[in-house]
Amino acid sequence: MQPKQLIDKLETTSRLTKEEWIDLIENRNDDTAQYLFAKARNWQQKYFGNRIYTRGLIEFTNYCKNDCFYCGIRRSSQSAKRYRLTKEQIMECCETGYKLGFRTFVLQGGEDGWFTQQKLEEIVHAIKRSYPDCAITLSLGERSKESYQGLYEAGADRYLLRHETADSTHYQSLHPKELSAKHRQQCLWDLKEIGYQTGTGFMVGSPGQTAAHLAQDMLFIRELQPHMVGIGPFVPHHDTPFAKESGGTVELTLFMIGLLRIMLPELLLPATTALGTIDPQGREQGILAGANVVMPNLSPSSVRAKYQLYDNKICTGDEAAECRMCLNRRMESIGYQLVVDRGDSPIKMRC
Ligand code: 5AD
Ligand code: FES
Repeated sequence: MQPKQLIDKLETTSRLTKEEWIDLIENRNDDTAQYLFAKARNWQQKYFGNRIYTRGLIEFTNYCKNDCFYCGIRRSSQSAKRYRLTKEQIMECCETGYKLGFRTFVLQGGEDGWFTQQKLEEIVHAIKRSYPDCAITLSLGERSKESYQGLYEAGADRYLLRHETADSTHYQSLHPKELSAKHRQQCLWDLKEIGYQTGTGFMVGSPGQTAAHLAQDMLFIRELQPHMVGIGPFVPHHDTPFAKESGGTVELTLFMIGLLRIMLPELLLPATTALGTIDPQGREQGILAGANVVMPNLSPSSVRAKYQLYDNKICTGDEAAECRMCLNRRMESIGYQLVVDRGDSPIKMRC
């Protein structure tokens, strides 16, 4: 089948075979991409209009016990200047964020045992008590089902855990041997079962990635039926084993965003910071390819530059208010607007 026919098939049936996915990804061109993005924007308009949801990202610790080969805050990175925010600092971020119109707070951090289950539950509880009209999203990596359950009961609404790559051999080439694709995917199933609005995702252009791997990512996402999918280009970090690898492209990232939008039209799809990092117009292009969420940073400016997952990360010198205004302008310039809203998933909870 021609790429456009495959796009039509995906749009009407929400399914392609692995071979069809590979075909479509390998044979894409600019014309196919424009065809895809027009359809993706139609679906985005149908469910979200020109409304772009925002989430205030609070990067509260860059300590991490893991050693993922791509990540700038991996345990063996000597150059990472480590920090932890106090509960008070986290609450201040929320206060600033609330005033700026954020109604979702994302607590993201490395896998840092200093933040015990009890400390985390206290933080979640405190945010929920002070901001009952806000959603709390956690992005704390792999934990036990009991731990996820406890955090859910403490008030967390959503959880982000990218599966990174659905292919276990590829997964192994990006991670040390104590980590596995199987365990990561099990965490996602656990999160869904508990009742979290669940987000997964992957890097585009990670070392060794092929069209067959991306095909597997799409099949996995189709099966998982998450509420959110965050994808961004792989961007090399100078102090990692992948320092000399080449990064992912804007072009392929946008194409994958478009495909996700038409495969699962109600998905929450962020135009990620990594996309904005490799192209000054990356986030705008992401929205025009079908994304509907932006996640500016609410972390105190004093620690921003220290949460360096990859090189040249944008917005590290800006205050939260500047980022909000900057994104407002950027979205308005392409006919969209940021809204003051929790921005829940329109997908009915299926579990
Ligand atoms: N380039 C792009 N994305 C990265 N992440 C981690 N390191 C990099 C990198 N070098 C992504 C991973 C992780 C998320 C928090 O950031 O997908 O899940
Ligand atoms: Fe942060 Fe533009 S979004 S400065």
